[in-house]
Amino acid sequence: MVYVGVGGDIEGKVNPTLMVHEGELVQINLINGEGAEHDVVIDQYAARSSIVVGKNASSTFSFTAQKTGQFAYFCSIAGHRQAGMEGLIQVMQGPREAMSSGAADIVRDPADLPGPIGLRPPKVVRVDLETTELVGQLSNGATYTYWTFNSKVPGPFIRVRVGDTVEVHLKNPENSVMMHSVDFHAATGPGGGAHTTQTEPGKETVVTFKALKPGVYVYHCATPSVAHHITSGMYGLILVEPEGGLPRVDREFYVMQGELYTVAAFGGTGEQEMDYDKLISERPEYFVFNGAVGSLTKAHPLYANAGETVRIFFGVGGPNFTSSFHVIGEIFDQVYTLGSVTAPPVTNVQTVTVAPGGATIVDFKIDRGGQYVLVDHALSRAERGLAGYLVVDGPENDEFMHEGPAKGEPAK
Ligand code: CU
Ligand code: CU
Repeated sequence: MVYVGVGGDIEGKVNPTLMVHEGELVQINLINGEGAEHDVVIDQYAARSSIVVGKNASSTFSFTAQKTGQFAYFCSIAGHRQAGMEGLIQVMQGPREAMSSGAADIVRDPADLPGPIGLRPPKVVRVDLETTELVGQLSNGATYTYWTFNSKVPGPFIRVRVGDTVEVHLKNPENSVMMHSVDFHAATGPGGGAHTTQTEPGKETVVTFKALKPGVYVYHCATPSVAHHITSGMYGLILVEPEGGLPRVDREFYVMQGELYTVAAFGGTGEQEMDYDKLISERPEYFVFNGAVGSLTKAHPLYANAGETVRIFFGVGGPNFTSSFHVIGEIFDQVYTLGSVTAPPVTNVQTVTVAPGGATIVDFKIDRGGQYVLVDHALSRAERGLAGYLVVDGPENDEFMHEGPAKGEPAK
C-alpha cells in the first residue's frame, strides 16, 4: 500500500516527498485509488484528512507550514503505515522566490463574446476548452493562482442554438497540477458532462451533448473540491438561442461574478493563497466581476453610446454567494428572469437576484450619456472589489436628469 503523486513534480512518484516553504498554506488533496478506507495525517501539524472510503472519494485539507524541517505523513488506519503508506513533507526555511511581476491578465473583456447565431439549421458545434493553471493579477499588487477555462475568467462565452449537438473537447495541459472537468447546466445527462470529462494533466477528454432547451446556462469545473475549482475561476456561460435567436440589440456584454477565499485579508499584496477553511465556511475576502478587483472599472469597462440598446449576460460562478445585480442609474427594460428565454421577459426592473450556478439576461436602452456602475446591491461587496463601469458616450440629456430645480414647467 502506497501513496502515488498526482500532477506536477510528484506525478507518478511513490510516497513523494512534498516540498513546501515556511509560512505557506499547504493543501493536500487525497484521492482514494481503490475501495478501502484510507486517510493522511501529519502529527506535528495536527493536520489530517477525513477518511476516504469509496474508490475516487477524495478529501482536502490545508494547514500553514509554520515549523521548518522534515515531517512524516502517513495513513492512520491500523496497519497501513507499516504496509507502506508513509512519506515526508519538507518545510524549507524562508519564503519561496517571489513570482516575477509579469502576472497574467486573466480578466475576460466583457465585450469578448461571439455574435448572434440567428437563423440557421441545427448542426454539430465543436467547443475547445483548455484547463489552465496560471498566476494572474488579482488586484493592484496581488496575484492569485487561477484555474481557468482558456486562461480567462470567466471561460469563453459559448453560443449555440436549440437542437445543436455540442462536442466539447476538454484539454488539460501537462503542466497542470490538478485534474479538471466540465459540467454544463445546459446539458441533460450524468454530471452535465462531468462524469466523462475528469481529465488528468496531459490528457484530453471529449463529451457530446444535445442542446435541448434554450436559455443561458452556467458551466463550471466539477472536480473535487468543486468549490475550490470554481472559486479559482473555472466557470463560464453558454447561451442556447431559441429558434431565430433573441431580439437584436446594439451591444452585448458578458459579465460573471465570483468570490475568492484568501488566507490574507482583502487588500494584501503578493501571491494570495487559498484558504480552505474560509472556503467551506463561506467567508470570502474578495468579490470580483470577471475574475479580478477593478477588472471592469480601470482595465475593461463596458462602452456604449447614448441611444443604444445594451444587453448584459450576467452569471454567478460563485461558488457560494447570490448576487443582487444592479446598474446604478439605469432601469432594466427587460429581464429574462432565471435565464429563461422561453418565458416572456419581466419589464422595468431595478435589481435582479442571480443564484450561484445561475444566470440572467438584462436588456436596456441607454437614454443619457455618463458613467453607470455595475454592482451587486449587497454593497458591502463593493468594498471587497465588486464594481464595474458602463461608460456611455453622448449627450447628458437634461430631459432625464439635471442638477437643480425643474425647468420650464411651473411648480404647482
Ligand atoms: Cu478544475
Ligand atoms: Cu453546477
